[in-house]
Amino acid sequence: MDLGLEGKIALITGGNKGLGAASAERLAAEGANLFLTARNSADLEKTAANIVGRHSVEAAFLAADLTDPASADIIVASALERFGRIDILVNCAGASQGGVFWDIPDQVWQDSMELKFMATIRMIRAVIPQMRTHEYGRIVTIVGNTGQQPNPRMLPGAAANAALLAVTKGLADEVAQDGVVVNAVNPGPTRTERWNTLMENLASSTNQSVKDVESGFMKEIPMNRLASPDEIARIVTFLASDAAANMTGTSITADGGWTKALP
Ligand SMILES: NC(=O)c1ccc[n+]([C@@H]2O[C@H](COP(=O)([O-])OP(=O)(O)OC[C@H]3O[C@@H](n4cnc5c(N)ncnc54)[C@H](OP(=O)(O)O)[C@@H]3O)[C@@H](O)[C@H]2O)c1
Repeated sequence: MDLGLEGKIALITGGNKGLGAASAERLAAEGANLFLTARNSADLEKTAANIVGRHSVEAAFLAADLTDPASADIIVASALERFGRIDILVNCAGASQGGVFWDIPDQVWQDSMELKFMATIRMIRAVIPQMRTHEYGRIVTIVGNTGQQPNPRMLPGAAANAALLAVTKGLADEVAQDGVVVNAVNPGPTRTERWNTLMENLASSTNQSVKDVESGFMKEIPMNRLASPDEIARIVTFLASDAAANMTGTSITADGGWTKALP
């Protein structure tokens, strides 16, 4: 099946590692050119070089901190200067911390909303005007299954995820006539640096071993395993493609069967 991604321009936040880098790799395999952003410039350079070495695409990057309110406009302007347009935005930056509710300070809730929610809002707001002009746009946000099924030990991220799902649904209606679609992916536990850090932090805040914390999560998952980043990246690529052109305001959950709700 031709996904219609050849020659498209994809801007990916959190693009230097984890789910963002995996999504960049899959989109490049389908022929999309990439503009990657995250804070760590060396990791961005390495990821971009690896991808360009494997696929016949162009990849540029800009290091930026998305908690700086000015950064979204700067990133989008830089991507437009490099490629002339942006067809696809993948929002993948995020690093919400978990913990036991009573022990989570205000700052952790605020950091989660600032990076995961506000940075995504600012990126979407910055890319949409030129997508409307071209009457073409695919916005895919990596949200998380806790937005629909909040886990008690992951509430700061769950709150940001629920807010993002609300915006995904409502905003999709706002831009539906403009050729712009807005969708989300809800991964469950996926083996990335973020997951490993989350497990280490939860282990120390609950006086358990990392293995015991992780196996507690695995008990909830019928498939009894973590996802690989590439499994999530394939869904991102589908939603960014013309194969999903009639889908908007929706989300796809990939969590090994953890979420107990009718689709
Ligand atoms: N892994 C999972 O189990 C899982 C499950 C559900 C949802 N998710 C969601 O998926 C998204 C990606 O997670 P991941 O597992 O791939 O995490 P990851 O491997 O830790 O990657 C996080 C990405 O965000 C970037 N980032 C962090 N803080 C930033 C900032 N202030 N400004 C700009 N970029 C920043 C990081 O790069 P720098 O550090 O260089 O900035 C990195 O590229 C997150 O939103 C996460 O909530 C993950």
